[in-house]
This record gives sequence, structure tokens and C-alpha cells, in this order.
Amino acid sequence: IRSVTVGDVQADLVIVANRLPVDRVEMPDGTKAWRRSPGGLVSALEPVLRANDGVWIGWPGGTDEELEPFEDDGLHLLPMTMSAQDIEEHYEGFSNGTLWPLYHDVVAKPEFHREWWDGYQRVNKRFAEKCAEVAAKSATVWVQDYQLQLVPQMLRELRPDLRIGFYLHIPFPPAELFQQVPWRRQLLEGLLGADLVGFQLPQAAQNFVRLVRQRVGHKTHRDLVYLPDGRTVHAAAFPISIDFIGFDEMAHDESVNQRAKEIRQQLGDPKKIMLGVDRLDYTKGIYARLRAFGELLRDTKLDVEDVIFVQVAVPSRERVEQYRKLRDDIDRLVGRLNGDLGRIGRPAISYLHTSLPRAEMAALYRAADIMVVTPYRDGMNLVAKEYVACRYEDDGALVLSEFAGAAEELRQAWLVNPYDINGMKAALLEAYEAEPKELTRRMRAMRKQVAARDVRHWADTFLEELAAVPGNHNKSVLP
Ligand code: F6P
Repeated sequence: IRSVTVGDVQADLVIVANRLPVDRVEMPDGTKAWRRSPGGLVSALEPVLRANDGVWIGWPGGTDEELEPFEDDGLHLLPMTMSAQDIEEHYEGFSNGTLWPLYHDVVAKPEFHREWWDGYQRVNKRFAEKCAEVAAKSATVWVQDYQLQLVPQMLRELRPDLRIGFYLHIPFPPAELFQQVPWRRQLLEGLLGADLVGFQLPQAAQNFVRLVRQRVGHKTHRDLVYLPDGRTVHAAAFPISIDFIGFDEMAHDESVNQRAKEIRQQLGDPKKIMLGVDRLDYTKGIYARLRAFGELLRDTKLDVEDVIFVQVAVPSRERVEQYRKLRDDIDRLVGRLNGDLGRIGRPAISYLHTSLPRAEMAALYRAADIMVVTPYRDGMNLVAKEYVACRYEDDGALVLSEFAGAAEELRQAWLVNPYDINGMKAALLEAYEAEPKELTRRMRAMRKQVAARDVRHWADTFLEELAAVPGNHNKSVLP
């Protein structure tokens, strides 16, 4: 990482997200270091920005960090400073205490606080101003995710010459739930500042257009919204994906496969390894999944001598109350399952509360016979696609929640309803007992799908569509 002078940066492509792709963290000895940011957004966008030579605006993590723009391995990064109050109101509050649970089917109860909303507006404004400062004339600005839904409109007011895209990485809820937000109209109007509003699934785009018609009163036709000023806004689905070739290559790496063997040995050479990898989030269904596995052991359908469940839980939003509680609940459940069902040297669950480097993740994907992804609701879930990309021998089973966006594409997974514990048990068992021929048939089809619709395809189609939106634009960033 080296710092650069971006005083006069005028970029043709600006990506703006709540977070930068790297996170400033404090080490146990008090020194500061950089770590890759958690979550699917960063994994997806990083290769796009590298390919397009743009600028990325976002929060580097930490409180009151005043950092100069810098370059990280070819990426131009512009850090935004967040105060303790910004973090509390904008990030932990409105983004993750209000919008996150609301947009995920109210899996947890959203809280509505006026001061959180004030903080959300304030931070969105600052991000919009920064974009306005660094975007070249008629540049393309691509705004990311639910933390920045007001940026498109605020930015359009400052810079009507820009071409503005917005992409929501998480689900967009049905009108019946969205309706609860006291500031629903402002959120919709914020998004309407964009020329193109992208979602993971077509249903989400339809929810949005319907809400705009009902709540804001604009004329709509199919996926188009007609604004009184003559502009049109296009709303459509662009299912996000991964760098398939990158993962496939990493999976072929000699050292990764060596590490996969070592992991299996270290786990006591079980017949089968089940794997879960999630941010430690209540939408991910980790608790119910481990319970289902525990019951299979208790019912003697499975035996700890034969199978182990490796659960990687990446620390996330640790100051938000619901996340703390979830951590305690999972700690207790893992302790109980291992205490009740494990034997010496044979725990039922190998639980890691940590974030792992990509090569180690690839080794885990190579080692795992059954990947278990069972969120209650998930925009896409890239872990499911990463697993598929690493299974170049067309083996391994994927057990996948039907409520993850990925289920629309990965039809050959064992699809489950995460609320149905017996259904999950049956699917885990079927995947466990599946014949190699069956596994190959399913995995081959899923690999074809992920290879054809990789992250490059996602970004290209979004940017092409954005460039095609009519308007007073005379310049565009084409992939
Ligand atoms: O993909 C959804 C998302 O909320 C991203 O916007 C975010 O960067 C990621 O998950 C991780 O969450 P956080 O930034 O709150 O750690």
C-alpha cells in the first residue's frame, strides 16, 4: 500500500461504497494494520475496479481516522472519515439496526430512531459531496448498497452531468415491509437520483417499481419509472457473482491442495467434512443449521467418528446488540453439542470465530465434502458460488437455502427451507449419502452456470445497461 496525491483526481469511474476494500484494524500490540474487508460486496467489486482503473470512495474502518488517499495494488482508494457519532447513528444504527433487518424479511426486529435517520442523511451527504469532487465531467459513478441509498439524488443535485448507477447487494423487501419506514418516500426518492437501479433478483426490482408508483406517485411501465423532469429510471436485476477463473485457479494450486489434505488430517481423517462459512450474522441461519446437524448425531443417523462440521464465523458488527447476543447463543450451542456428542479427539463441531485468508478458504472448500449455506434470507450468497468454483473435479455437495438469491441459479443444489429443521436434516443426510455419479451430475451443471455468469459478466452487463440509459450524457465508461 502506498499513498498517492489524489488532490486533483478526476476519475471517469467512481465506485462509492460504505467500506473500502481494506479495513484498518488495531493489532493486539496496539499497532495498526490493513486487512481485507469482510463480505460479498468487496469480493465482487475488487476485480471490477482493478480492471477499470477507477477510484473507490469508502470508510477505512476505525473512528476519526484521517487518512490521505492511497493506492493499494493498483486500486485508487479515497478514505472517508467517520466519527463515533457517524458510526453509531449511520452504520450501527440506521444501516444495521433499521435497514438490515427490515430488508431481510424482519428476521430481527428493526428499530426506528430519528437521530439514526439524521446520521444516515448526514453521512450520505458527505459521501455524495466527495463523489462530486472527484468525478470527471460526465463520469460514471456507481453507488453501492443500502448504506448509501440517498447518495444518487444528492449527487445528481450537485452534478447533473454524471451518469449514476446504484446497486443493492441485499434483498429489497416487499411493499408490506418497506412501508414501515417512517422515511420511506425519502429513501425511494434517493434511489431515483440514479439512472439505473440494480437488484439481485427480478422480484426486488418489481417491488421497487411498485413502491415508487404507490408511494411517490410517478408513472411506471414495466421496469421503467418516468420522472416529471423527463428523466427515466431503469430498475432491473443483475445477479452478482464471483471471479470464477480466479477461484478455479487458486483451487488448482498445489499448496492449496496440500493444505486441504493437511486440514483433513488435522480433523482426524473423517469420512466426510461438512462446512459452513458465514459472517456471524443472524440472517445466516447458523444456529438452526448446527442444531440440525446435532440432531442427526443424536438420532444416530450420523456418527462423530465419520463426520465433522467445520463452521467458520467471520466476526461482524460486533458492537450491535443483536450480533453480540447471536455470538453468545452460538458459543453456547457449540459448547453444548461438543460436550454432549463429541468424543476424545472427535468434536462434533470445529468452530472458528475468525476471518481467514483467501487461500485458506480455498483449501477449506477443497477439503469440504458438503457445503452448507442456509440463510433465512440472503441477497445472493457468494460463498455458495465460491465453493462451486473450487470443485473442479465435479464433486462435493451443496446444501443451499431456497431463500438465498443464489438458489435462483444453483438449482442443482440440495435446496432447503432453513425454517424446516427436519427438512434440513433430510437434505444433509441425502447429500451425505449421495452417490458420486449424482454429485458429479449436479456439480457439473452448477459449475457451468457460475463460469458463464461470473462477476465480470455482472459488472459488464450493469455498466453497459447504465451507458445505454438515455439522458443528457455524452460520455460513458464501457467495460
Ligand atoms: O454485502 C452486504 C454487506 O452489508 C456489504 O454492504 C458490507 O460491506 C458487507 O456486507 C459486510 O458488512 P459490514 O460492512 O457491515 O462489515
